[in-house]
Formats: sequence, C-alpha cells, structure tokens
Amino acid sequence: MGKISSKVKKLKLNAAQFLKIIPERVKKISASGTEDVKPLGAYKPNSFASILHPSVQYVKVSEIETVTDNIKLFKLIPDKDRGTSRLAPFAAGNVISLEVSIDGNVYKRPYSISSSPLEGYYEIIVKRVPDGTVSEYLLDSVNEGDALAVSEPFGEFTYNPLRDAENVIGIAGGVGITPFRSFIKAISDSAENFNLTLLYGINEPSDIVLKDELDKAARNPKIRIVYVQSGDANVPDGFEKGFITAELIKKYAPEGDYSVFVCGPDAMYKFMEKELEKLGIRRKFIRFDYRGQVSEPESEPDYIDANAASFSIRVNYHGKITNVICQKDEPILKAIERSGVSVPSRCLSGICGFCHSKVVSGDYYMPKSRDGRREADAIYGYIHPCCTFPRSDMEIVLP
Ligand code: FES
Repeated sequence: MGKISSKVKKLKLNAAQFLKIIPERVKKISASGTEDVKPLGAYKPNSFASILHPSVQYVKVSEIETVTDNIKLFKLIPDKDRGTSRLAPFAAGNVISLEVSIDGNVYKRPYSISSSPLEGYYEIIVKRVPDGTVSEYLLDSVNEGDALAVSEPFGEFTYNPLRDAENVIGIAGGVGITPFRSFIKAISDSAENFNLTLLYGINEPSDIVLKDELDKAARNPKIRIVYVQSGDANVPDGFEKGFITAELIKKYAPEGDYSVFVCGPDAMYKFMEKELEKLGIRRKFIRFDYRGQVSEPESEPDYIDANAASFSIRVNYHGKITNVICQKDEPILKAIERSGVSVPSRCLSGICGFCHSKVVSGDYYMPKSRDGRREADAIYGYIHPCCTFPRSDMEIVLP
C-alpha cells in the first residue's frame, strides 16, 4: 500500500509541470516516423471494435424447429460466403435486429437471442403476430439455408453482478420466455452465475414454449420454474392459478434483495409496473425488456381532430424526398417502411434512439410510456418515429 501511494505521488503533476511536458511531447511527435497512416482496420483497437460491434452481420438459417403452429425457432449461423466469419459475442438477454426484404421493402424487427452466449450461434423464437408482415414472412416463407442479415447484439436486459442481486425473479409472459431461455442456458453452461426463479405466465398449458426443455433445465438447483395459469382450463398439479401478482412474487422471492426481470406482452408490463411498486423493490433491481412495436396510441390529448383517418408525411432521408401516407393509428415508422425507405431502427420501443428524427413541421403524439427521448431531443423537436403517431401532415428528416 505504501509503495503504491508513493508511486501515485510521484506521478502527480501540477499545472506548471504539465506545461513543461508539452514541448517534450511535440519533440517526440516530430521525431516519429513519417510512414502513411494505415487503413483504420489495421489498428488493433479498430479491428477488435468491428468484431464486437459490426454494423451488419450476414447469417444463414441453419435449422428451423416448429414449436407450435404459430411459433418457430430459427438457428442462425455466420454466412461465410457473404463475409461474416463469426458472430459478434452477446450477453444473455441481448437482442438482435433482423432485417428482411419483402416485396422490395426493407423491414427490421428486434428479436431476443435465446441461445447461450457460449453456443457460438444465435437462436430466435418467432411467434406469428396478427397482421405482422415480418413474423408471417419468417414463419411461412423462410427455409433452412436462406440468407438473412442482423445487427450487432444490443440491449440492457442483462444480468450484471455489480448491480444485480444474486437471486433473480424472472417474470415471463407467452413468447416473452425467449430471453429467459438464454439466461437458463447460460446458467446451465456457467456463462452466468445467479439463481433464477422464473414465474412463467400462460393462459393454458399448451401456451408453454419448449416445456420439456424448460423442465429439464429446472433440474439445475440454480433454476426454478413456476407455471402460472390464468385461463380456466384444468390447472395441472404444481401450477399456480391466476396472474403474477405482488403476492405471488412474495411467495417465491428469497429473503433479502432480489432482482426482477420482466419480459412479455405490453399488457403485462403495465400490470407488473403496479405490482412491483407494491413490493417497494429498489429501481436498480428492476429490468423491463423492450416492449416491442407500439400498436396503437394509448390515449390522446384533447386537441386532436378525431375525424382525420390519415396524414401525409414528407420524409427526407439523406436528401431523398419520399411522401408517405400514414394512418392516424399507426406509428410513422411503419408507414415509412411500407414506402420502401429503409429506416434506421433497432428496438422499435422508443428507447434506443436509432430512429431519432427531426420534425420540420407538423403535430404528433408520442404515448408517455414510449417516450424514451432525451430531454433536449424533446425540446429541439426530435421524435422516435417507431413510437410516434402523426396528428397533422408532417415533414421529418430521418437520421
Ligand atoms: S428504433 Fe429504437 S427508438 Fe426507434
């Protein structure tokens, strides 16, 4: 300890000493080599950064497992033929944005990775959503061997031993099991080290995704899975009946601190926010996954002309102008996608800021629960079109 502090003292410089260093530095820089600057990728930190954060990754669908009539599991491996030799590493709970081209339009959708970080590939679980252009395309038209493109992994729905408690209560609803499958696999192969009690909300037993696999994983003493059935069908032994409430969480929560991770349908988020408040859990221990694409405005300010069915949006994307028609009840990004413009986007939940666009003119409405803008962005007229509804004709500039 004594040695370290004397070293620190030696390194401490006052302003006068610092000024003396500058001519010395200038001399050293002038004496350095004059060879050309290498391409950016030739420098180690840059090549390392491009492995961790590739702007795009080309993947092939190597396997498709049909889970139910409306749910499939896709295994994605690097597409070496198109230049992706390995996939960017990820943490359990991360998300990738999958990009597909359908009838000439480019669509991007976030999917949680459900494999373990140690498996070397990405798996995603896709459920058919009503009028879901992308889910329908993936379930009905994508085959093994097909080529796709995905973003780097991203997101904050991850376990952090510095911030989180060693016991975690997971709350999943329906296909919201996806990131928890990754956590379960990661605990099983020791990529993660925490105790997980998963409360898995379903309407009826047939809703459980990959039940055999989950039950097998729950033999690990660090993993406990409790099925919570809300529907009226016969409730199997060992299942809980009803909804995942504060009371139920208390029943399964350990003594002392615990973290809570929530992933499920939008209605579940709203419900859980209230239930978790009752438990008085510290905010740092609570994590909600991305809520997914907003489907309709939740409530609207009074001044809105309720008679208008659609609005015209003038979209400026790097100087190219496209005029699109946006329905009153659809987010602006959805209308732009339909018009063939490839909008920069990732989370579609109003959080990541990838679609952050400048409003030149017009009125709009962002539901409070989806307004993840920085304060300055709101003041200076920026919106996230993934979660913004037009309330007049508008002009916007995409990033
Ligand atoms: S895509 Fe993330 S905020 Fe819009």
